[in-house]
Amino acid sequence: MANSPFSVSLDLALSGAGAPPAAAYDAALAASASALDWLREQKKSGGLELLGIPARTDDLKAATKQAAALKGFSTVAVLGIGGSSLGGQALTALRKVQKPFVEFHDNPDPFAWAAALKRFDLKKTHFIAISKSGGTAETLMQALTAAEALEKAGVKKLKKHFTIVTEPHASPLADFADSIGAVKLDHPLGVGGRYSVLTMVGIVPALAMGLNVKQLRAGAAAALDQVLKAKKPADAPAAVGAALHKALADQGKLATTILWPYADALAVFGGWWRQLWAESLGKDGQGSTPVSVLGPVDQHSQLQLFRDGPGNALFTLMQVATKGKGLTAPKGRAKKLGLDYLAGRKMGDLVDAECRATAQTLFKNGRPVRVIHLEKVDEFHMGALMMHFMLETIVMGRLMGVDPFDQPGVEEGKVLARQYLAEG
Ligand code: PA5
Repeated sequence: MANSPFSVSLDLALSGAGAPPAAAYDAALAASASALDWLREQKKSGGLELLGIPARTDDLKAATKQAAALKGFSTVAVLGIGGSSLGGQALTALRKVQKPFVEFHDNPDPFAWAAALKRFDLKKTHFIAISKSGGTAETLMQALTAAEALEKAGVKKLKKHFTIVTEPHASPLADFADSIGAVKLDHPLGVGGRYSVLTMVGIVPALAMGLNVKQLRAGAAAALDQVLKAKKPADAPAAVGAALHKALADQGKLATTILWPYADALAVFGGWWRQLWAESLGKDGQGSTPVSVLGPVDQHSQLQLFRDGPGNALFTLMQVATKGKGLTAPKGRAKKLGLDYLAGRKMGDLVDAECRATAQTLFKNGRPVRVIHLEKVDEFHMGALMMHFMLETIVMGRLMGVDPFDQPGVEEGKVLARQYLAEG
């Protein structure tokens, strides 16, 4: 596809024993046309705020100013959970600076958090607390205990040690920010947590890590543009991906969807995508379990199950151009050891061969495989992939007839946890 930040191959998904019937795929792809029309309408009307984020620049001044204020700290600890953390975590793969060292704390493990507060040089530590609602217990617990630890360490001006990202309305987190006079940055009201990585939620940590956030948004804009301008659904990667999933689901062949990048830089990305897919689409007795693995390492861990287990999975391999890259196996020594196939080969050649071998192994054993090819993993491509998967999830939600933007299950859990705490 011309001007695409990545290319998608369905050759190993639409043929072979694991492929859905052509008629089922064609019907799902045709049905995705109305989802694409809906996206175009939303873009035009501004109804779906997410679609306007890639082109935004008005918020960058405040984000850049705040990121600059973090330069004097040795550690920046990002507090938040779910959509308020996973996108930023995915971006750590592109980190350019070590000082401040940006680290993410999402799981409120009592021992790990206490150890972290002990480990930090608190006078040189800044906390970015992120919560869309401003009422999430885990994040509030972290913020409150961090404030206490700072005070105990003799910090007088708490406001210098906190940045708060939350929706612009009263909430416990917003009130906390006001009580100490900390900078508050707005979480857009119309963007859901798991769709928020391109907003302040991901942008502020990204800037603190030295990333080019304009490129991140430019990549997202390119992926969005391709989908919105597609003349037919087959030209829109999000529609193609959703249609493939839907066709398999309709045949009862989609218990699991497996994302398999062959690049360390996309390992954490899988955790972000997992939440996006699970929380958006696991509804009304429908959905597929997202599993994120890493190549080549999971060839030596899970490929056996994936090849010969119960199946009902779609594999999405993400192949980054590694051929001819990396260190070379020295010819002489390799040959002496009988390793002619490695002699003079680059490590990137090995990874390339392994990715292709996994795709074929799965395909030959009746497992459908989609392959996403990208030149490299930088801010532009990361932004493009993020937008692609958000759009694919939205289109899939519309094909399934579920709302990809709500999360009643998460809310139920939050309410009950608060109730149990209140009951003591
Ligand atoms: O995607 C979602 O809506 C959730 O996973 C939230 O991101 C998560 O529960 C955290 O919520 P909040 O950002 O309000 O603290």
